[in-house]
Amino acid sequence: MSLAGKRVLLIVSGGIAAYKALELVRLLRREGCGVTCVMTPAAAEFVTPLSLQALSENRVYHELFSLTDESEMGHIQLSRAADLVVVAPASADILARMAGGHASDLATTLLLATDKRVLVAPSMNVRMWEHDATRANMATLASRGVAVVGPDEGAMACNEYGFGRLAEPPMILAAIRALLDGPQPLAGRHALVTSGPTHEPIDPVRYIANRSSGRQGHAIAAALARLGARVTLVSGPVAIPDPAGVLVIQVETGRQMLAACQQALPADIAVFAAAVADWRTDMAPLKLKKAPGAPPPGLSLVANPDILATISQGAGRPALVVGFAAETNDVLANAQAKLARKGCDWIVANDVGEGSDVMGGTENAVQLVTAAGVETWPRLPKDAVAARLADRIADQIRGALS
Ligand code: C5P
Repeated sequence: MSLAGKRVLLIVSGGIAAYKALELVRLLRREGCGVTCVMTPAAAEFVTPLSLQALSENRVYHELFSLTDESEMGHIQLSRAADLVVVAPASADILARMAGGHASDLATTLLLATDKRVLVAPSMNVRMWEHDATRANMATLASRGVAVVGPDEGAMACNEYGFGRLAEPPMILAAIRALLDGPQPLAGRHALVTSGPTHEPIDPVRYIANRSSGRQGHAIAAALARLGARVTLVSGPVAIPDPAGVLVIQVETGRQMLAACQQALPADIAVFAAAVADWRTDMAPLKLKKAPGAPPPGLSLVANPDILATISQGAGRPALVVGFAAETNDVLANAQAKLARKGCDWIVANDVGEGSDVMGGTENAVQLVTAAGVETWPRLPKDAVAARLADRIADQIRGALS
């Protein structure tokens, strides 16, 4: 989809990554998207208003009192004339001020006054990103429907390494597109999605895991976001990028995944696509040693909590709960039994038997099992399965909650 004719209000806050805002403006303009830039005072230390003005071909606003001529463009109008407000880069400071509802400069005044969706692209030092204060601010913003893209993991200007790098401009563009794209039947809805495997530690260096790549769950999160849902994706360890416009909570173990899901409630929709380890073992505090001649250590396994069943049968159950059933045999019978046993509304059943190439692969052949019957879908790329499932979810939610 082209962004021609759409309008983005781009708020650039301070930070070394502010230079990437220039590239973002270039990409948006190339698509025919109108861009109006607003800079915080700190941003002007990193890029000049003149560069943003030249690239956006538009006036750049950089302090509250430059908007004294209300008849021309007051701050309320400026905040509403756009289709989407984007904060990129979003520093820890502006995120904190957004969470706190401040209106201490033009940027935060616009963010408080706007009636449009807001997308933030955080950028900061890894410790600042991981700080409890920033986590709490992000949770507050997400609960208000603010969409997030990034941050990425990598080397930072401050010589540290970790999460905190501004998402690359093409990723921010994809997130903008996702938010502006087409009809938004799930606008105002919150969707919780789990994805990926879990890692259950055996000792400090070993763990129990499985072959889940997270591709299907991540694609579902992205597809629900494209339909306008606010999406919380609780993901086990995966090697694929975060989907655009989704709040990602990273966990390792099944128990952490359950806690993160419970914390993310209330939700209207929950899709449990993670391959949660069924069993865990008590973690040995030190690395288990091979003693010469000694038998291998026995692992005594205990059952992990069943997240799908717990949320399906718990207080504050989402209106629509969807589980997955990856089976190597008797796929349909197992899926139907699972639907009843776990208490969910739908099961997406797939055959992960030898040769199916589903676990870790890019395609999926699924059957949708509901109380009304079974639908067999053709083998499709995981993105297409996700889009189809998201459309079905939107239809169902429209009926159930309207
Ligand atoms: O029982 P089984 O693992 O086959 O069920 C698969 C479904 O249950 C999937 O939707 C999966 O995400 C979910 N599940 C879960 N917590 C577990 C095990 C499975 O949420 N501990």
